[in-house]
Formats: sequence, structure tokens, C-alpha cells
Amino acid sequence: MKTAKLKKKLVRKVFDKVHHNYDVMNDMMSLGSHRLWKKEFVNVMNIKKDETIVDMASGTGDIAKLICKKNLCRKILRIDPNYLMLKNGSKFFKNDSKVMEICSTGENIPLKDTSVDTYAISFGIRNTYNTKKALDEAYRITKKGGKFVCLEFFKITKPVIKELYQLYSQAIPLIGEAIVGDKAPYEYLISSIQKFYTQDEFKKMLEQSKFKNVNYIDLMGGVVSIHTAWKI
Ligand SMILES: C[S@@+](CC[C@H](N)C(=O)[O-])C[C@H]1O[C@@H](n2cnc3c(N)ncnc32)[C@H](O)[C@@H]1O
Repeated sequence: MKTAKLKKKLVRKVFDKVHHNYDVMNDMMSLGSHRLWKKEFVNVMNIKKDETIVDMASGTGDIAKLICKKNLCRKILRIDPNYLMLKNGSKFFKNDSKVMEICSTGENIPLKDTSVDTYAISFGIRNTYNTKKALDEAYRITKKGGKFVCLEFFKITKPVIKELYQLYSQAIPLIGEAIVGDKAPYEYLISSIQKFYTQDEFKKMLEQSKFKNVNYIDLMGGVVSIHTAWKI
């Protein structure tokens, strides 16, 4: 419990610090690849016209933006506990009545049971302070027949890519310090990737939260993975 509280506080501090440099941070962490990964993520979501979608850990709204650009879905609920991150992206959605912002954590979602068709979370699950609770909440709010889709940094499976990424991740905090003047947020991000579950451990957690047909695909040798799961 104490660890969860500490993590909540630490994550809050990290995103308070980086909210205005968030896009730079994304490009640095992924060498620009996050744009391609997010496009693939939205393709995997396979959204239908009248769906209600949760963009959990929405941050500055990259996923909601891609969905809006495709003119898909009926309603998008952008949820994030960090008001600064949410607000940083809200200009884009100003005139779009189908997008709503909710300032809340993934562990306590202020939505009714079985109320959304798709629950999407991109680079957010690793930041939750109680991942099990966040997955149970995802299951609770998803309709029967609805899906869960998650994009996240995981464990690299291909040896050469692993070694290259390990070398690069040592440099990220230093590059972060040079570009945005602070290395602490980048140190957090690198260590949070190392401490997070493997692809298979996370798959098991989804099954423990009652999701069915859980699968994942690795992109770039497992630098990131997309997990998909269903509520049946
Ligand atoms: C790396 S950003 C991801 C933003 C966006 N989804 C993307 O793919 O670019 C992580 C976000 O997770 C949010 N976050 C932190 N703790 C969270 C929690 N407990 N539940 C949901 N989101 C959380 C942060 O505020 C931050 O905006």
C-alpha cells in the first residue's frame, strides 16, 4: 500500500514536470517510432462507427487524435489523472463534441459498469500504481463483447536489438538533461520499463482479471507490444 502511494506521487511528479515537453520525451524514448506504433495500435483497435471508446492514460491525447482523424467512433472519453497532461492536448479537441475529458486514475474510473465498447491504454499501464486494480476496472467498465487494447514498452526478445536498446537507454537520461534540463523523469521511465512485467506475465494478469482470448504482438523485437483481450 505504501509502495503504491509512493508510486502515485512519483508518477504525478514526473508528468507534472514533463507535460510541456511530453512530445519531445516521446520522440526521445522511441527515436520517433512511437508515431508508427500508435498508428498500428489504432489499426489493431479495429474501431466500429458507433463505439464508445476509453483512451485511458490519454496524456496529451495522441491516440484520441488518431481516432478523430479517421473519423471513427461515436464517443471518446479521454481519461488521465494529470490535469496538466490532459489540458496540454485539449486544444485539438476544442470543437469536437464527441470527445470528453475526465481527470481520474485507471484504478478508480467514474464510469458505470459495462458502458464502453473499447478500452485503450497506450504507454499508461506501466504508470498505474495498482495494475491489478486498473485491469479489474477496465474489465468492469467494458461491455460484453467489448475489447481491451494496450500498447506498452516491454521486454525485448531479439538479442541485437536488446543490446542496442540497453546502450541507448543508458544515454536517455543524459540526453533528457541536455534537451529539457532534467534527467530524473527519464531515469524514472527507464527504470519503470525494467521493473514492469514481461509480455507473458502481463497476459496472465489480464486472464486473472477475467479477460478472454488474450494475445499480444511484439513490435520491433519486443521494444513495445500490443496486448488484446476480450470481455465475453
Ligand atoms: C507516457 S504518458 C502516455 C500518454 C498517451 N497515452 C500516449 O500514448 O502518448 C502516461 C500517462 O499516464 C498517466 N497516468 C499516470 N498514472 C496513472 C494512473 N494511475 N491511471 C491512469 N493514467 C495514469 C500520466 O498522467 C500520463 O499522462
